[in-house]
Amino acid sequence: MSTLIVNIKTLFGNRETPESPLKGSECKELPRLDNAYVLISKGKIDSYGSMQNVPDRADEIIDATDRFVLPAWCDSHTHLVFAGSRESEFVDRIKGKSYEEIAAAGGGILNSAKKLEGISESKLLEDAEERLEAIQDGGTGAVEIKSGYGLTVESEIKILKVIRQLKEKSNIPIKATFLGAHAFPQEYKMNHDGYLKILIDEMIPKIADEGLADYIDVFCESNYFSVDEMNRILDAGCKAGLKPKVHVNQFTSIGGIEAAIDHNAISVDHLEVLSVQDIEVLKNSSTIATLLPSCSFFINIPYAQARKLIENNIPVALASDYNPGSTPSGNIPFVISLACIKMGMLPEEAINATTINGAFAMEVENEMGSIAVGKSGKLIISEKMDSLAYLPYAFAENRIWRVL
Ligand code: NIG
Ligand code: FE
Repeated sequence: MSTLIVNIKTLFGNRETPESPLKGSECKELPRLDNAYVLISKGKIDSYGSMQNVPDRADEIIDATDRFVLPAWCDSHTHLVFAGSRESEFVDRIKGKSYEEIAAAGGGILNSAKKLEGISESKLLEDAEERLEAIQDGGTGAVEIKSGYGLTVESEIKILKVIRQLKEKSNIPIKATFLGAHAFPQEYKMNHDGYLKILIDEMIPKIADEGLADYIDVFCESNYFSVDEMNRILDAGCKAGLKPKVHVNQFTSIGGIEAAIDHNAISVDHLEVLSVQDIEVLKNSSTIATLLPSCSFFINIPYAQARKLIENNIPVALASDYNPGSTPSGNIPFVISLACIKMGMLPEEAINATTINGAFAMEVENEMGSIAVGKSGKLIISEKMDSLAYLPYAFAENRIWRVL
């Protein structure tokens, strides 16, 4: 099966895979080719170029006159396997409670864990498949999914098995992250060592043995996991072959970034709060800063300082954080709009951060994230528009015409 897209107004993101994620002034360089074609064969890009050299046959031809073509989004941070929504907490926040207050009263992550305990693996899978399908319709072509709403051996494994089934059933790259260290279960609030023992002696070995995760994550934050606790968990995860991608600096800066970098983390995610020292350590590392503006939007917390990170040559990726508590949305075009409107990123920077840098942040850069021969044919075709900036400008509108 071959598909030929012809008369493309402009093709964006046509580049060979760079050696490392884009940083500094590279972030605003989005390659482009006007009046172009792309030929996709068996799901991969066979060739692309100027319309002057368009191939003369294909099984299917799509006319993209006045439309743009982009690589699919790589959403490198989601929690899209969950049981039920949490809109009552949303209403509590409207009435004045903070995200932290709700969590301290037994809501938040523990609320989701309670809901997940009572749901079957097949129902969890069915709901997750629906969400996965919806984000693909929005242009997502690769996704990382975390556990972390289980918090018991059985439930964490239940989530990771659902992710494994999504991997098997789906035709897009999916990465699984073990986030057993998302919150302390109620019964371990006064016995952190007891839960760490379960994480380190039971969960990690079992998960690694069964090959259920690619990465390990910890929510390193005041009232969640301390830096010392994260160090112990990451030591065990790394020994078991799981690379770190961690939640740090969402509410406070307690040294999690430095500890994650010491463990060669692929990415440090959130960073709504950043100290001068945090920037210094990030600058001297190859760890990606993954920013989640939809989370800032939804729970009304500061936006990460994207400009400061880019100015300091720190590679930035953008992701959705799709989860029932802080971000009930996996809409990447909205993430791009927020990155432009609230974080001062240029449209080109935001698109690079959700394509090639997102691909690096989940290690799929050799197949996803740019338009190059041999890479994935998962492409986005836009509605008819005059310039690419229209995409983030027309926020909360669906301006994607087709996703291949
Ligand atoms: O990335 N901050 C930690 N975890 C999730 C939200 C968890 C929840 O509220 O369910 C996040 O925002
Ligand atoms: Fe998250």
